Amino acid sequence: MFKVALLLSVLSSVKCGNILVLQDVPSPSHTIWNTELAKGLARKGHNVTMLGPDDFKNQKLIENFHYIELEAIVDKGVEEAIEEAMDAPLLKNMLLFYEYEMETCKKIYENTGMQRLLNYPDGFKFDAIVIDMTLNCMLPVIKRFKFPPSVGVTAFLFPHYLSLDFGNTIHTSYIPSYALSITEDMNFLERLQNFLFVNSDYLLRKYYVRKTVQRLANEKFGESLGSLDDIRRHISMLLVNVDMAFHYPQELAPNIIPVGGLHVKRAGQLTRDLEEIMDKGNKGVILFSLGTNVRFSLLKPHIKSALLGALGKLDQTVLWKLDSNLTNVPSNVIVRQWLPQTEILAHPNTKLFISHGGGLSTIESAYYAVPVLGIPFFADQFPNLKLMEKKGLARIVYYNSITEDSMYKSIREMLDNPKYSKNMKDTSNRMRDQPQTPLERAIFWIEYSIRHNGSGFLNLKSRDLPLFITSGQDIHLFLLLLGCVTILVVVSACKCCISSMKSKHKLKTQ
Ligand SMILES: *[C@@H]1O[C@H](CO)[C@@H](O)[C@H](O)[C@H]1NC(C)=O
Ligand SMILES: *[C@@H]1O[C@H](CO)[C@@H](O)[C@H](O)[C@H]1NC(C)=O
Ligand SMILES: *[C@@H]1O[C@H](CO)[C@@H](O)[C@H](O)[C@H]1NC(C)=O
Repeated sequence: MFKVALLLSVLSSVKCGNILVLQDVPSPSHTIWNTELAKGLARKGHNVTMLGPDDFKNQKLIENFHYIELEAIVDKGVEEAIEEAMDAPLLKNMLLFYEYEMETCKKIYENTGMQRLLNYPDGFKFDAIVIDMTLNCMLPVIKRFKFPPSVGVTAFLFPHYLSLDFGNTIHTSYIPSYALSITEDMNFLERLQNFLFVNSDYLLRKYYVRKTVQRLANEKFGESLGSLDDIRRHISMLLVNVDMAFHYPQELAPNIIPVGGLHVKRAGQLTRDLEEIMDKGNKGVILFSLGTNVRFSLLKPHIKSALLGALGKLDQTVLWKLDSNLTNVPSNVIVRQWLPQTEILAHPNTKLFISHGGGLSTIESAYYAVPVLGIPFFADQFPNLKLMEKKGLARIVYYNSITEDSMYKSIREMLDNPKYSKNMKDTSNRMRDQPQTPLERAIFWIEYSIRHNGSGFLNLKSRDLPLFITSGQDIHLFLLLLGCVTILVVVSACKCCISSMKSKHKLKTQ
């Protein structure tokens, strides 16, 4: 008995290791997600070093957690790209996304924070590297530290291109792409659009974006760096930000682990003044936040006044997170530069969340069972909100069609129709019913990778085969050709037969 217990404890514990967490995406929401993971590892006793874009002025530092800042990575360029993306058609949106990735990589390779990490002593050993895979700038660091077990992560839900990178089979006929405003119920044209988008996105990344990043990396690290694809192949596991009880269920390869919502914190204490506001709002409180990327100054003036007009007609208190100091706001609207989103969503008086529909916000709203009125702006915000609308958890108002009247009606519908909060409660209960928290699961698999020197043995063979073989297209094509040839042969044989019978018949009658 004792021996079994000892064995179990040896198996389940891992020597506390040196873990490097790499985040290249200069977006605050990705920082939130990666930092929760990094801090979780540090709390478990690991010595965590994180290289990322945040300055950590607003973050509480904890023991074992070391931070190297990629200075000045978030700049005007990012804001301008977002402004452009807001009104852009799909193709332009795609190109802006690629531009964003290549620009970010360029800046990271020139960055002093990056250089500080590269300057670590030659023999310095990391036991594992956790690397954000949304963009692909930091891959050379894996080689620099001599290929320790590496685990990929992404807060960007689970984009098709990463699915393919890790050998997963993709299903464009029922899993919508991150950029299309569709649900899992697709008609033929939507399936066609989804198929074309997913495949061209993958090919453009492979032959254009990644080739450019390779060139930039070679300029920085020299030709001896080798191929970034080979370095990516070393990463044997991927942790993705989806929860099957909330997102669409889908098949996952054994090396892909869903840890959706690992960033959702247990709500802490509200500050005294906010608590007073929350408790006093006896008709309920509405939280209004358009996330970290959409700035108020980017909104058109008539939309700003429509929003203010609609909110002013409500009996509810509105807490509005806004990067701007507004004058003349209606008396029930309270504007703050920053609001503790988790704590407000967790408060029982919160009746509605008016949101841009970002990946993290939608997961939080579902976890805390607060219905959503969504105003999507770009990228995954459209499919995120479409999913919630389909499940009866949200309604969508499209930015360009916002009027005071439509906004007011939509808010009223959300507040007055009980189906939204009922559906939200069910979803929330399912999300909370798991054998361990998503963060615990993520940490388990990272430690597992340390214990077993990576997890290459969990990778499907498909990871090393071309897509036209894994998807069976070569066989389909072969059988189609075979079918065509057979039909041709049969048809010409029949023709021969018929014409010879005809000539025999002629002979006889003659
Ligand atoms: C912990 O990480 C820090 C920052 O990377 C590093 O300076 C330190 O040497 C590490 N500690 C150990 C015991 O490896
Ligand atoms: C809003 O006002 C506060 C204090 O009055 C100031 O610190 C802040 O910079 C202002 N913000 C903007 C975006 O003007
Ligand atoms: C760990 O895996 C790497 C390949 O990922 C291999 O080169 C190395 O030899 C392995 N180490 C041990 C101790 O098995």
